[in-house]
Amino acid sequence: MGRKIVNKKGKEKRLARKEERQRIAAGTIAVARANALTDPLAPLTAFRSYQRCGLIALLSCSRVTQLPTETVEWAIDLTERNIRKPSEQCSWGWDGDKKREEMTEEAAWYLIAKDPEGKNLGFSHFRFDMDYGDEVLYCYELQLEPWAQRRGLGSFLLHTLELIAFTNQMRKVILTVLLNNKPSICFFKALRYSTDETNPDEEEKIPYEILSKHNPKMNRTVPAPSKPAVRAADLLTASSHQCCQGGHHHH
Ligand SMILES: CC(C)(COP(=O)(O)OP(=O)(O)OC[C@H]1O[C@@H](n2cnc3c(N)ncnc32)[C@H](O)[C@@H]1OP(=O)(O)O)[C@@H](O)C(=O)NCCC(=O)NCCS
Repeated sequence: MGRKIVNKKGKEKRLARKEERQRIAAGTIAVARANALTDPLAPLTAFRSYQRCGLIALLSCSRVTQLPTETVEWAIDLTERNIRKPSEQCSWGWDGDKKREEMTEEAAWYLIAKDPEGKNLGFSHFRFDMDYGDEVLYCYELQLEPWAQRRGLGSFLLHTLELIAFTNQMRKVILTVLLNNKPSICFFKALRYSTDETNPDEEEKIPYEILSKHNPKMNRTVPAPSKPAVRAADLLTASSHQCCQGGHHHH
C-alpha cells in the first residue's frame, strides 16, 4: 500500500517536472521569436501615435543597435537626470558606467516617443527574456522628459509595452521599482501592477519592489520553480540589472 502511494507520487512529480520543462522550452522559443522581430510595433498601428493633454507623440521601436548614437546618449542622460538621485538616496546606488553598459547591450530594445518635430519625449528600454522560468517582457526603464510627465504618455507607453508583450506570447510584463520613488510606485499601481511572485520576502530589507502584470490569456497551470532555490542560484551569479531605477534582473 505504502509503496504504491509513493510510486504514484513519484510519477506525479516526474510528470510535473516534464510539464515544467516543456513549458520552459516553449517560453524560450517565444522569447527567441520575439527577439528575432525587426519592429515589434509594426502590427500595432493604433499605437504609433499619441495625442492628449496638448502632447503629440510619435512612437517607434527598435533594437539599440539600430538607434542613432544621439538617441542612445539622450536616453542615458535622461535616465541619469531622472533617477540618479533616488538611486543614490538608497542602498541601490548609482553606477553610471554600469548603467551605460546595460542600456547599450545588444539585447536591449527601445520604444521611443518623439514629438512631430523630432524632439525626444520619452522612452522605454525593455527586453524579451526568461525570468525564473517565465517568458517575460522586462521593462528596464520607462523615462519621460520632465515636461512630458503627467500627461498620460507614460500610461500610453506602458500599455504599448503590454500589447507588444502579450501579442508575442510573453507571460507577463515585469519591472523593478525603487521603493523611495513614490511617484513611480503610484504610477504602476494606478496601472494595476502588483507585487510579483519573485519579489524577495519583506525581511530581506531591499530598496526595491518587483512589480508585474500578467498576460490574461496565459494563466499558469503548473507551479513556478520554487523561489528560494532559484534565488540561491541567482545570487551566485548576481549581475547588475535593471529597470525602472536600475533593476534587479534575474534569469
Ligand atoms: C513614472 C512616469 C513614467 C509616469 O508617466 P506619466 O506620463 O508621468 O504618468 P501618467 O500621466 O500616464 O499617469 C498615469 C497615472 O499614474 C499616477 N501617477 C503618475 N505620476 C504620478 C505622481 N507623480 N504622483 C502620483 N501619482 C502619479 C496617477 O494615477 C496618474 O493618473 P492621473 O494623472 O489621471 O492622476 C514618468 O512620470 C517618469 O518618467 N518619471 C521619471 C522617471 C521614473 O521614475 N520612471 C519610472 C521608473 S523607471
